[in-house]
Amino acid sequence: MSNITLTIIKPDAVKDGHTGAILDQIIKAGFKVKAMKLKHLSAAEAGKFYEVHKERPFYNDLVKYMSSGPVVPAVLEKDDAVASFRTLIGATNPANADEGTIRKNFGKSLESNAIHGSDSNENALIEAGFFFAGTEIY
Ligand code: CMP
Repeated sequence: MSNITLTIIKPDAVKDGHTGAILDQIIKAGFKVKAMKLKHLSAAEAGKFYEVHKERPFYNDLVKYMSSGPVVPAVLEKDDAVASFRTLIGATNPANADEGTIRKNFGKSLESNAIHGSDSNENALIEAGFFFAGTEIY
């Protein structure tokens, strides 16, 4: 698999009913959905997903937040998917995100920033494998 990225629509955005609007923006930007589900992560699962941030001061709060309600992970495909998707979602902190980006439109704070996007091709594959079996990616 190449040209893929892994996204997660985060708990607040799902709870607030923004899943459809966010997916619409993603699809209109030219991404193809290769896999998608609703999933309520346990704290252990959220901790494992964000293991690279284990030493960061925000790690415990991040794990608590990401396991606070169902999320919508999805595998997305497009040329140059990782970089293209990071442009579409905007800066990590919604306050610094460009107008029209998903985090500007739907993010509330640095923690509740609506959506995740992989930061490299290597991590996209690892993160896709975290949520989906090969047979669930179409
Ligand atoms: P995400 O792209 O999912 O990757 C790690 C997440 O940690 C990030 O989005 C933010 O929502 C969250 N986070 C919370 N505090 C910070 C911080 N100080 N710096 C970076 N990320 C943070």
